[in-house]
Amino acid sequence: MITPILPKPIVTFCCTLLLAANIAVAQNSKEPSEADKLRYAPFKFTEASVNNGKQIYQQNCQSCHGEPGKGNHAKLDPIPYDPVSSEFQSNADGEMFWYVSNGKGQMPNFSSVITETQRWEVISYIRTFNDKYVQIVAEQGKDAVLTSSIKLEVEMNQDSSKIIVTLTDTLTSPPQPVSNARVSLWVERQFGKLPIAEQQTNNNGIALFDTPTDIPGNETGMLTLIAQANSQNLDIVQKAQLGIGTPTSPKNLLADRAIWAVNAKAPIWVITLYLTGVLSVLLTIAYVMLQLKKIRDLNCSNKSKPIL
Ligand code: HEC
Repeated sequence: MITPILPKPIVTFCCTLLLAANIAVAQNSKEPSEADKLRYAPFKFTEASVNNGKQIYQQNCQSCHGEPGKGNHAKLDPIPYDPVSSEFQSNADGEMFWYVSNGKGQMPNFSSVITETQRWEVISYIRTFNDKYVQIVAEQGKDAVLTSSIKLEVEMNQDSSKIIVTLTDTLTSPPQPVSNARVSLWVERQFGKLPIAEQQTNNNGIALFDTPTDIPGNETGMLTLIAQANSQNLDIVQKAQLGIGTPTSPKNLLADRAIWAVNAKAPIWVITLYLTGVLSVLLTIAYVMLQLKKIRDLNCSNKSKPIL
């Protein structure tokens, strides 16, 4: 029997997907903190943001949450509320933003699907179904404005097992810590990157992250972390190799599957049996040919004799 063998990249890709899904589900049980709920959009909602938000909603949300006001949401448990419903609207802006960024229950996270601005735009669209809504815009200047002279460092504190991301402005002397900057942390995967968390730097320019656990690394447990600080028009990215993953040796996925398709794996009795089989078929054919030749020879010699 021939076992269907999938090409290695496809198998690896599927495994990565499954893994990503697992971790996303694990994250979905988390809830937004009080600080997350008090987060506001950094811009005033406008007709343009609503129009963009409507498109984003139709492409990314409507399949589950349904057309607003029609109640035709997907039948999931718990249900994805209609955005017009009071259950949905009772969420603070920051809460909605957090759920869209991190996922909730069966809802996936959209942090790598739509940008932060797009997430706020979809919220601006959703708020058009709430007459009582009055927008609060985030205080300008509260989030740090980043410049290209800012240096980002990622390290691991062995004692507290926290990941420390430090932002310093190297243009000033001595270098100044950058506070109130949003930093997101990711793990680099073979395909894309896996979001871990988002934090704001404190007055010492430090953002602390819990070390993610149960993420498979390489043979020695090394993982590549990506820390990224965003501001409106600049991304500062830093990668770091840290030994915080679960050691995993990449296995040749075909090794266990090929039964006798590989010479080295075939037991000697299978090889003997196979060769004997082939040989006996050849011998039988040769024997039959020989007999046929004999019949013809006999026929030829008979012709010369008179038939009695
Ligand atoms: C795969 C289906 C699915 C998609 C796609 C989806 N959601 Fe959800 N969403 C859900 C489900 C299910 C819940 C309820 C989860 C729960 O309560 O455990 C939910 C909950 C929410 C909540 C929290 C509401 C509350 O109080 O329970 C918000 C906000 C939300 N979704 C916004 C969005 C936005 C915005 C999009 C598009 C960018 C989106 N969702 C796309 C399924 C989905």
